[in-house]
Amino acid sequence: MDNLSRRKALSLGVALGLVGLANPAQAWASTGSAKGAAAGTGPEWIWDDAADPLMVSMLQNGHVPAINTAWESWVDNNDPLPGGLPADFAAYLGRVNRMPSWADPAKLARAADFNRRRDTYLFMLYGLGSGIMSTVIPREAKSVYWSAGGADMQDRAAKTFTFGYDLAELNAFKPDGQFVVTANKTRVVHAAVRHLLPQSPHWRAVADETIPISAADILVTFHSLGTYVHRKLLDWKIPYPPADQEAFLHHWQVAVHLLGVPYEHIPKTWAEAERQAARVLDPILTPSTEGIELAEDLLGLTAQIDLGVTRGFLNEFVRYVLSNEVGDWLGLKRDYAAAALVRTAWPAFILFREGLSPVMPGTFYMFDQFVRALAMLFLNKGSSGKTTPITIPTGNRAA
Ligand code: HEM
Repeated sequence: MDNLSRRKALSLGVALGLVGLANPAQAWASTGSAKGAAAGTGPEWIWDDAADPLMVSMLQNGHVPAINTAWESWVDNNDPLPGGLPADFAAYLGRVNRMPSWADPAKLARAADFNRRRDTYLFMLYGLGSGIMSTVIPREAKSVYWSAGGADMQDRAAKTFTFGYDLAELNAFKPDGQFVVTANKTRVVHAAVRHLLPQSPHWRAVADETIPISAADILVTFHSLGTYVHRKLLDWKIPYPPADQEAFLHHWQVAVHLLGVPYEHIPKTWAEAERQAARVLDPILTPSTEGIELAEDLLGLTAQIDLGVTRGFLNEFVRYVLSNEVGDWLGLKRDYAAAALVRTAWPAFILFREGLSPVMPGTFYMFDQFVRALAMLFLNKGSSGKTTPITIPTGNRAA
């Protein structure tokens, strides 16, 4: 292990709250990532061997603007690769733009159906839970803030929605779906960011790592999305049979793999995912200057849409789905009346909505409008009603 790699591992260990472990890779090894057991081979050591060097060359040779233009028309999984791409970039996409051999079509079909059946809860949990949680994942907050996209959160949020709704669509992984392409575009964006962000003096001043977005970081984000939603559905006692749970995990396994995380590091069961999340996500959540600003941007944006609720309600809902501690970190102003309403009426709303209680709560229509409006926000593809194209950045946020 060279010194640079050791330094990276140690800084990652600190960030993941693993200081005190003799070997940070143990955190991953003990969660079932067998290959992570050996020092230097865990996901915190892995970036993206296939995409990273390619994107350095694309950026350095000025090809990125042409790629962004050429791939605008490349949307469906079965679209041919567009013309106008540099040959080595096209060859790379040709290699990676396919489903992994272990993807199980039956589970993916079930996941798609599950996403449809549960879309309102899912969009709400992803949007207000995972979305705001991302602002208290310090590495994510700092890299998102200081990358080019951080300067325009409305546009960035719309692009992130693209990933969410392409993943949730019934045909997401099928030839006429769009998710495989969206994931591959995202993978390439991440590769570009790994080259660009280290050139930002602002990012370097606050970062605890030399290269952002390792496979370990991607797994942390996966836990803030998939594992978090899985936990909440169980907490809220939403009907969620084992076959749905397995299918939901599987579609995330494929998604994370398409983002470049090697199969052997992806949790194989929810139990394994939970153990990994308890070690690598829960302990690292903490506020940062960047994250506080991003959260305000995101909640400000959401508040612009008519959700039929006040900003105080929104703040309290975020506190309810994340925690008061997170709410305090982010300075979300208290609204105690809304807090009491959320805590008592939301569980009653779920029971009634799921047919588990015959009693319709008086607040049913308010909550119903709220969940529908949030779902529409996603289903309408942001406020514009059309896909926001994912584009590769060529620089960083200026200040
Ligand atoms: C870009 C999703 C993990 C940092 C993107 C984009 C998507 C996305 C859809 C393209 C849209 C955009 O430009 O905003 C995901 C998913 C992840 C993940 C689904 C894991 C499951 C991470 C992690 C980090 C990160 C772990 C950092 C620690 C960034 C940055 C950009 C980006 C800095 C570029 C924004 C720009 O254009 O300036 N990600 N991401 N992402 N992501 Fe991720």
